[in-house]
Amino acid sequence: MSDPTTLPLYDFSAADAVLDANARAGVVDRLMDARTRLCQDAEGSTASDTFDPLDIDFVDWPTRLLENEAELTRIEQTGTEFREQADEIVLLGIGGSSMGPRALFSALCDPLHNERSRGDRHNAPRIYFEGDNLDNNSLVALLDRLAQFSDQKWRLLVTSKSGSTIETALSLRVFLAALESRQGDPQQVGESLAVVTGAQSLLRDLATELGCENIFTLPEGIGGRFSVLTSVGLLPASILGLNVRKLLEGAAAMTRVFREADAGHNPALDHAATCITAEEHHGMTVRVLSVWSKALESLGLWHDQLLAESLGKDGRGATPLTAVNTRDLHSRGQQHQDGRRDKLITNVLIDEPRTTPLVIPARVNDIDGLNRLAGRTVHDVLEAAVRGTNRAYAEDARPTTDIRLPRLDEFTMGAMLQMLMLAVTLEGYATGINPFGQPGVESYKRHMTSELGR
Ligand code: PA5
Repeated sequence: MSDPTTLPLYDFSAADAVLDANARAGVVDRLMDARTRLCQDAEGSTASDTFDPLDIDFVDWPTRLLENEAELTRIEQTGTEFREQADEIVLLGIGGSSMGPRALFSALCDPLHNERSRGDRHNAPRIYFEGDNLDNNSLVALLDRLAQFSDQKWRLLVTSKSGSTIETALSLRVFLAALESRQGDPQQVGESLAVVTGAQSLLRDLATELGCENIFTLPEGIGGRFSVLTSVGLLPASILGLNVRKLLEGAAAMTRVFREADAGHNPALDHAATCITAEEHHGMTVRVLSVWSKALESLGLWHDQLLAESLGKDGRGATPLTAVNTRDLHSRGQQHQDGRRDKLITNVLIDEPRTTPLVIPARVNDIDGLNRLAGRTVHDVLEAAVRGTNRAYAEDARPTTDIRLPRLDEFTMGAMLQMLMLAVTLEGYATGINPFGQPGVESYKRHMTSELGR
């Protein structure tokens, strides 16, 4: 069993063999300067003269929250109350208000969580994600499914910083109507609701009017895609019985390394250095986050949003892509090995499987020819696939790097989420792209509003 406080490692040796070393050294110098500015912004001494550091409070948030016992206890107590009272949770939210919680759920809970009995779910409710679309069929199916549960003990968790995002607000109306028709008693409606929102929002006003006391306020200086380690991610994590303190401890430890460690020993800074070098000096504008566990697909989608919304601005920014291997070796593998040389591949690898390693059984008749693998584990075969794929890319001078997690647990997830948020933000600081805000998204909202009329 590995040390529970071991941080993820970032190994860029294979990429180093392919990318221009002098170019990387120059990029590292820029990143060291950018790190100083970023840390000054995080401390409130506002070094940034180029942009408003809107979401910068995410940097020290894990440390601050660990010191705020009252807020942490409130999250945990509400989490416990919802876990005990609800059999199903419907989490309404979109973008950063949904993808972080989903990444935590997929990475840290049983892959068949919703299909297990309550006991096998460690006494946690089932969880469903909605409010992230305008999909009639999906809404109807969930309402229908909830109505079929005999004891009808489902509750709503609504997350929206602005409190006015149409997808989330509209689905809240729909689920609220179902809740009201189930409960009858307005007080019980208020008790069946928890809300995470900004200090002032229409959602907050509505929740208050409904008598909801479970209202959590998002910090002003942390926006959607940087909010996974605030109550946005921690409240659902706590409802699911996850250890929210360990998530924060992992993130705080990663921030310490980011602030203090030299290049070469600093996963966030080193990852940013590889990404910028590959893009600026080798034209690699596609970033593949290649996760070697199905449990990390949602982390990949969360990262797609983080990178796309943070750096995809003013005609610039790499295109993120999540690949789940070995599955996608059979779909995207051909292109990644043989297609346009515009891709940097970042593997995310987990050293120890969480469950008992499955051993490949021998058979008397070796018809499928697999007795040569009998006695080895599925994880052994996965590791061979990782090594084989990396070798094949290296032979063709295609750069790969590895983010290596000793295990997949709350500590390592917190650390990895923080590492990726720091790396993307640092890249923005070093390349002059404002990593905060998403001005481009406003345009579709404006046109949609005008299509709907007033
Ligand atoms: O990263 C972001 O800020 C966005 O993706 C938001 O999370 C998303 O648009 C949802 O916004 P809100 O939480 O205000 O409903």
